Amino acid sequence: MMRPMKLAGSELMFGEGCLAYIKTIKAEKVSIVVGGKSMERSGMLAKVEGYFKETGAKTMIISKVEPDPSFETVIRGAQEMLTFEPDLIVGLGGGSAMDAAKAMWIFYEHPELKTMEDVLPPNEFPKLRTKARLCCIPSTSGTASEVSRSIVISDNEKGLKHGLGNMEMMPDIAICDPEVTVSMSPKITAETGMDALTHALEALASNRANYLSDILATQAAIDIMKTLPKAYQNGNDRKAREIMLEASMVAGMAFTNVSLGIVHSMAHTLGGIFHVSHGLADAVLLPYVIRYNEADERAKKVYDDFAKKVGEQHLYTAVEELNKTLNIPSCLKEIIPEEAQFVAKLDEMAALAKEDGCTKTNPIIPNEEEWKQLFMKVYKGE
Ligand SMILES: [Fe+2]
Repeated sequence: MMRPMKLAGSELMFGEGCLAYIKTIKAEKVSIVVGGKSMERSGMLAKVEGYFKETGAKTMIISKVEPDPSFETVIRGAQEMLTFEPDLIVGLGGGSAMDAAKAMWIFYEHPELKTMEDVLPPNEFPKLRTKARLCCIPSTSGTASEVSRSIVISDNEKGLKHGLGNMEMMPDIAICDPEVTVSMSPKITAETGMDALTHALEALASNRANYLSDILATQAAIDIMKTLPKAYQNGNDRKAREIMLEASMVAGMAFTNVSLGIVHSMAHTLGGIFHVSHGLADAVLLPYVIRYNEADERAKKVYDDFAKKVGEQHLYTAVEELNKTLNIPSCLKEIIPEEAQFVAKLDEMAALAKEDGCTKTNPIIPNEEEWKQLFMKVYKGE
């Protein structure tokens, strides 16, 4: 089947020192969207601002984007942009800062839109770029929001996470400099790294996988499995940081085109209901979903062929081992201790996971009973 592929925006920079590329970007007014204090503490925010100032551009900072950015934060940022009128928006930070920047961009370009539902199907996604372009500078090696067309925005009133994808949101400029990622803690390195591995392995097993996405996803997954323990054990290992950032980016190129699978459907659900962080949920779920998907002949072959490439017999045991090395819990009970609370939400979780946009490209679509069984298996560690 013919499928279009878009791998990144018009400018994709990577490699140590590429942050200085900012000095060549033409912009008059730049809104820089950041999360907490980490980019300030590491000096990266000052460096980014400094490079823009060298070009003569004016900058303003939109800060305090929370993990799992909310729609309120998106609207707050869009309002600030409407006053400042930037012609370039920069998302600097992890997935939350980059996703928030993308979402603020939509409501800055289109102040007539008022709710997330206004941009969700069946409503048509609006055209962007009449006011500004978007640049993403990742500080984690995981979400690949810098080369993806998707965002996840939380609706805190309804306790929902809205996943939305449209090629219109592909950042025009991506700057992937490993120096920006060096300040990540070992825990964040492990969790975001496992998100990247999940992107690669779910893209590989996706029922829309193709020749090109397979090449990208395979190499990304090989590099992540080899390098993530090094980046986790020594955050100052520049080579490991560089490989992780590039592998995450390449995994992103694969999944943004062929989509993901039910690790992501279940992780979005657990994030919305129990506020389990995205990468951690992915990491815990991944080996269970691989085992579940092995009932599908094509998926089993994909996993077995990949396992051979990394010198392993079974992919799920290799992922379990990797999780152990990274001190990631082996089941959800370790994260959500109250079993009754978890069981009480099973029906709701099954319904949400079923409706998630990532479900339709999974090798097997679970029925309602299977969703619940799978959630319970991951909970109890069976
Ligand atoms: Fe993800």
